[in-house]
Amino acid sequence: MEILVKDNYEQMSVAAAKLVARTLNAKPNAVLGLATGATPLGLYRELVRMHKDEGLDFSQVTTFNLDEYVGLTRNHPQSYHYFMHENFFKHVNIPKQNIYIPSGTTDNYAAFCQWYEQRIHECGGIDLQLLGIGSDGHIAFNEPASSLGSRTRIKTLARTTIQDNARFFDTLDQVPIYAITMGVGTILEARKILLLANGRPKAAAVAAAVEGPVTCMVTASALQLHRDVLFVVDREAAGQLKMLDYYQWIQEKMVDAP
Ligand code: PGA
Repeated sequence: MEILVKDNYEQMSVAAAKLVARTLNAKPNAVLGLATGATPLGLYRELVRMHKDEGLDFSQVTTFNLDEYVGLTRNHPQSYHYFMHENFFKHVNIPKQNIYIPSGTTDNYAAFCQWYEQRIHECGGIDLQLLGIGSDGHIAFNEPASSLGSRTRIKTLARTTIQDNARFFDTLDQVPIYAITMGVGTILEARKILLLANGRPKAAAVAAAVEGPVTCMVTASALQLHRDVLFVVDREAAGQLKMLDYYQWIQEKMVDAP
């Protein structure tokens, strides 16, 4: 694993965007795995800026989103369909037919989940998977005790996640209880993984993911089993890393650090 520590959210977002751009420069028809939430907003803003100012081209890109709330229609303001459209897709040139987001309103979840996995496979697999991390250490909506071999399926959200995400809804009761999410096993098949985390509330989860044991109680810890993972975190999210000095020392020696 590589850990890149940036001074603040802005720098974290710009570094992440550079890595996405690097991937697209090397492979213009890359398959990207995309994440939602507050964390990647700055990254999407920077990618939109690079598209507009520098001609970063998404015309051959395919995307697969990690997850969606069950029961929210695609135009619900808190659905991840809506989030992605508003914050990213409507500003860049990804062909509509290349955009995949789990459906929160299908009438056959089992069949949909199987189809989603199959589409990822048919598109050649995910080249670069973007991730955030929950304060409970989850990746996508793989809550504590999720199988580390899990595939796309329905998950019941943990209370902490419902509370964390209540800030986006008017009341706690409005936060959906179920989500459809890629599994940990699905995520681990991506060729490269880029996890972003910022702010003090993420510090314990980041430390557990990087330096703790591999455990289904912190599904981000499964990333230790992947051979190409980069964490880009701000100073606050790095605050509980025991080996922080070492990671920063490595960072200083990195010739191509974004
Ligand atoms: P956040 O969510 O970016 O809104 O903090 C991250 C996550 O739960 O994975």
